[in-house]
Amino acid sequence: MKISVLTIFPDFFPAVLGEGMIRAAREKGRLEVAIVGLRDFTDDSHRTTDDYPFGGGAGMIMKVEPIDRALLGLGVGEKQARPEGSRVVLLSPQGRAFTQEIAIEYAGLEHLVLVCGRYKGVDERVSAHLADEELSVGDFVLSGGEPAALCVIDAVARLLPGVVSTFDSVESDSFHSGLLDAPYYTRPATYRGWSVPEVLLSGHHGRIARARREESLRRTAERRPDLLAHAQLSPEDRRYLAGIEAAPALDAGGGTAMPPERKADPRATRPKGRPRAEAAARRRPTAPKGPSARSKPRPKPAAQLRSSRARKTSARRGE
Ligand SMILES: C[S@@+](CC[C@H](N)C(=O)[O-])C[C@H]1O[C@@H](n2cnc3c(N)ncnc32)[C@H](O)[C@@H]1O
Repeated sequence: MKISVLTIFPDFFPAVLGEGMIRAAREKGRLEVAIVGLRDFTDDSHRTTDDYPFGGGAGMIMKVEPIDRALLGLGVGEKQARPEGSRVVLLSPQGRAFTQEIAIEYAGLEHLVLVCGRYKGVDERVSAHLADEELSVGDFVLSGGEPAALCVIDAVARLLPGVVSTFDSVESDSFHSGLLDAPYYTRPATYRGWSVPEVLLSGHHGRIARARREESLRRTAERRPDLLAHAQLSPEDRRYLAGIEAAPALDAGGGTAMPPERKADPRATRPKGRPRAEAAARRRPTAPKGPSARSKPRPKPAAQLRSSRARKTSARRGE
């Protein structure tokens, strides 16, 4: 596939495009990246790409003409007559939130064009008449679209066929599988008294796979319970989740089905960044009551994985 980037800072890119997975994708002929300098599409001696906002106010606005001309030069100028498999994306904090699902969608395109804004933003006519969509890489404001473009290029490059040698690794990545990924360790097995979970040293592939799956489920339930609503879960996964305090109640189809008393659970509205311990303490009084609610034994492999965390905490406390 080809990714074209429209920018007023073309020098931002070469070093990053020449490293790691993006480099591998380019060298394997899977990805072509064209960096298009918007100043090459200006017609004044100062090569102006921005101007004052109509109506006044602080900050400069990127002009529509250089972007329009650059898109025409790439053969994707007319929105209604764009070649099939091409997409023009304006990077913007106001756009649709970039996800792994969108990265997969983009990896199936033939030509993705990323338009990088700068300053106070981009003349709205680019969004209204030239771009197919706006895309945000998160709820924060960058000074320009270039770092956002690099995020997109990197996430897409590693999905192209043959770029990552073991695609299994991509498939178990966070979000790709619908869950957060499991934790990983490498040698040494013990470092400063911090040990790797024993199950990972057992050489028993079935037990290791199950322990990883359960750790994936557990941390997804704790950190991103929203993901469970759309995850593909086996009956075994559901049984495991049923024993996890942090897990939302699941309906038979995999979606979350909160009983009324759990809808008031403060974790549902926990502001981002609130310390987990505080949130846990706050939610305890509202945890479902009943003989089985607290007495369920936690499944074993994940308990083994957790034991390293307990050891880590003890070590930190100097116990
Ligand atoms: C300083 S920002 C402009 C922000 C704009 N005034 C607003 O509040 O929506 C300049 C450019 O950086 C890029 N940008 C900033 N934050 C971004 C984000 N979270 N995702 C994608 N692009 C972003 C966009 O291309 C944007 O036009």
